[in-house]
Amino acid sequence: MSETGSQAPLPTARLLGIETSCDETAASVVENGRIILSNLVASQVDLHAQYGGVFPEVASRQHIRTIYAIVEQALYQAHLTLKDVDAIAVTRGPGLPGSLVVGLNVAKGLSICICLPLVGVNHLVAHLYSAWLHAVDTQPTPEPRFPLLALIVSGGHTELVLMEDHLRYRRLGATLDDAAGEAFDKVSRLIGLGYPGGPAIQKAVHTGNPKAFDFPRAWLEDTWDFSFSGLKTAVLREVQKISGRDQPLPVADLAASFQAAVVDVLVGKTLRAATVLGAKEILVAGGVSANQALRQSIQAQSKLPVHIPPLSLCTDNAAMVAGAGYYRFIAGQRDLLDMDVLPNWPLSEV
Ligand code: KG4
Ligand code: ZN
Repeated sequence: MSETGSQAPLPTARLLGIETSCDETAASVVENGRIILSNLVASQVDLHAQYGGVFPEVASRQHIRTIYAIVEQALYQAHLTLKDVDAIAVTRGPGLPGSLVVGLNVAKGLSICICLPLVGVNHLVAHLYSAWLHAVDTQPTPEPRFPLLALIVSGGHTELVLMEDHLRYRRLGATLDDAAGEAFDKVSRLIGLGYPGGPAIQKAVHTGNPKAFDFPRAWLEDTWDFSFSGLKTAVLREVQKISGRDQPLPVADLAASFQAAVVDVLVGKTLRAATVLGAKEILVAGGVSANQALRQSIQAQSKLPVHIPPLSLCTDNAAMVAGAGYYRFIAGQRDLLDMDVLPNWPLSEV
């Protein structure tokens, strides 16, 4: 499917994407899997900050309040009505069950209205397809080439994947405990920074010394798996030691040293996997790929081209769902109205 040069071009297809897997209510219209005609995200981050993390029941209720306005606005900004759309792509999992149900049922309702085809999308696959997207008024960047070594780093997942073609993935390894984003969120809470932890830590590191604390790097040699719980515990011990001495926490140094340990392992293992598996290019996606240190470090160290989506497409959005859905759509894959949510769905071929 990647060799399209000699084939007749496919007809234009515009997909409405819907994403409600966690705490972002999002809708988007994307043309031919690449061109973003609209991309709306209603973040619930302020709502959950008081709980120090996502409160599932609050998240699903908020999705219900917001979803119709967001879908309507996504169509309006794309200068389209539902009748102009060729299919609806919706996140089916993994994610919070109550949140996924909202998006899936809205997608089903809209699909029944005017008999639109429905395509369920795996959220992790959607993060991969964020690298194919570009705004309608910008030049497309070159498409990633296969085999592509992808690192997906988000709040719930840290996975190394070999993408052999469109819709063909080989999961190489994943975190054995905390996801990288989860570690950012937990450490941020430990050292008294806000939620979400990633952006808070990134802000704090500017005045910090990344070598102030020698935090452990879990290399887990001979596997492509990750582990971040030991690092989190090491930060906790340091915080307890300093607090026990009644000294103020060196927040910036702790943040910078923690971030350096995470970035070293993510970059080191991704580059090694790319070499060992003979990848042509590298892709980094998911919320943590918004991290400046990670972006700079992998770009600087990689001998292969590295694709990292623009910041607005790193965290959860519906354009990536429409993008991923397009490749299922043109492959003739459809889902029926009995499609259910899959909260623990692993990275999958569909
Ligand atoms: O992909 P995403 O929006 O949602 C999930 O699918 O989980 O990722 C959210 C995660 C959060 O853990 C957040 O702290 C992290 O991405 N994150 C970052 C940054 N921006 C968001 N982590 C490190 N540095 C950032 N700049
Ligand atoms: Zn995500």
